Amino acid sequence: MNDGEIMEKIEKERQYRLILQSIEHKLLQIEDITAQKMYMVVVDQLSDIPYFNWTGIYLLNKEKNELVLDYYVGKPTEHTHIPVGRGVCGSAVVDKTDKIVEDVTTEDNYLACSLETRSEIVVLIQKKTEIIGQIDVDSDDVAAFDETDQKYLRQVSDLIVEKLQNL
Ligand code: SME
Repeated sequence: MNDGEIMEKIEKERQYRLILQSIEHKLLQIEDITAQKMYMVVVDQLSDIPYFNWTGIYLLNKEKNELVLDYYVGKPTEHTHIPVGRGVCGSAVVDKTDKIVEDVTTEDNYLACSLETRSEIVVLIQKKTEIIGQIDVDSDDVAAFDETDQKYLRQVSDLIVEKLQNL
């Protein structure tokens, strides 16, 4: 890593730590917290990150074997129901892994939400091995997401699972 990249990483980490604190703080303030209210807080806070151009949470409907869009911030999308296996989101469920797509134009299994989108990250929300859903973020910048984003979005995802257990 060169000096510029190191500074970028430090700044990214600083931003995520602040957002994580803010999410935790806001979740504690809400009376009668529900899963829905929690998803709204998480997505609203994350969408403050400048390169997050579309931020949403999909929940897995196991009976229908599809992801269903819950709360999001960004342009409306036609992909409110995604069959497991389709697109970056659906393949994350089949492969049971997070996904980082540096350039969506080179991705075959990709469902376009917006023509401006250039990169995407999907981080699973999972309780041990059970997949509950995922955090999905699109950016208009190429290669906007890396392992630092994955690390912190995983912390957010783990926080969601922890809070869901106490509802
Ligand atoms: N690009 C995703 C679809 C969801 S939109 O990004 C909101 C995919 O390929 O699964």
